[in-house]
Amino acid sequence: MTAAAVDIVRTVEELRSRVASWRSEALSVGLIPTMGALHAGHLSLVEAALKKYDRVIATLFVNPRQFDRPEDLAKYPRTEDDDATKLASANAHLLYAPNVDEIYPSGYSTNISVSGVSSGLCGGDRPGHFDGVATVCTKLFLQSGADGAFFGEKDFQQLRVVQQFVRDLNIPILIHPCPTVREDDGLALSSRNKHLSDEMRTRAPVLHQRLRAAAEQLLNGVPVDIVMKESKDFILKSGFDRVDYFELRDAENLELLKQNSLNSRLFVAAWLGKVRLIDNIAVIPSQLSC
Ligand code: PAJ
Repeated sequence: MTAAAVDIVRTVEELRSRVASWRSEALSVGLIPTMGALHAGHLSLVEAALKKYDRVIATLFVNPRQFDRPEDLAKYPRTEDDDATKLASANAHLLYAPNVDEIYPSGYSTNISVSGVSSGLCGGDRPGHFDGVATVCTKLFLQSGADGAFFGEKDFQQLRVVQQFVRDLNIPILIHPCPTVREDDGLALSSRNKHLSDEMRTRAPVLHQRLRAAAEQLLNGVPVDIVMKESKDFILKSGFDRVDYFELRDAENLELLKQNSLNSRLFVAAWLGKVRLIDNIAVIPSQLSC
């Protein structure tokens, strides 16, 4: 017997008709935008949404506009059947999985671009990436008319970009940040982890370990430039091939900080072979950080 899958809709019209029927019963609606290849991190967003909203829609769209390298788009895992089964087990109510033409029909020509929080970090390394994210999320919010949407702190800069355009454009949706879900050894769950060899997988938790160690150092008053340099050196010595950034930034405006402050956050992106991993934590005593 095949496991039950969640209901799937593929067009804006079908999506709106489902939402309209829920609205007629005065039910509230939460949205979880994803690109599929679902893991426990994504499912934690569904769980959080079910606590706040009567109906929960997950979306599955591998958004071409946010990939700067065509090879990354081509190799992005596509596991819709499996995703639909996982969503049913997690008690989501609907999966919206549009085709590319539904989101970007012929003649599509609008771009949402957020300045400030989009620059630096993953925005600096991946030109156009956050325009792609902001554009598709705007569309998903407006297509669904959901009351709230859930985003993981794993992609903290993405979360800030979304919060920014929602505020700037007065989009009537509440953005709910959710904590990063990790493996027992601290590695943040990510669809990219499956590309790690066994050997790389043993090294990968170094990122989170080093973030925590750096946070401790900053809280103990070690100067920021020393902590950043030691952290990058440590990650490289631990077998990573490249560190794109290891930085301390303000959690609100994402500006670089030269001194630790009350609202600071550490961000890292580093490569193991061809796999780029990212992570971040708040600079607070380690038993509280995530
Ligand atoms: P995707 O990488 O599929 O992630 C979907 C959501 O799951 C994001 O909000 C992301 O932060 C969250 N997530 C991923 N790993 C997580 C983890 N370990 N713990 C908690 N949450 C986690 O992010 C995207 O898709 C896309 O950019 C999208 C927003 C869907 C726009 O295309």
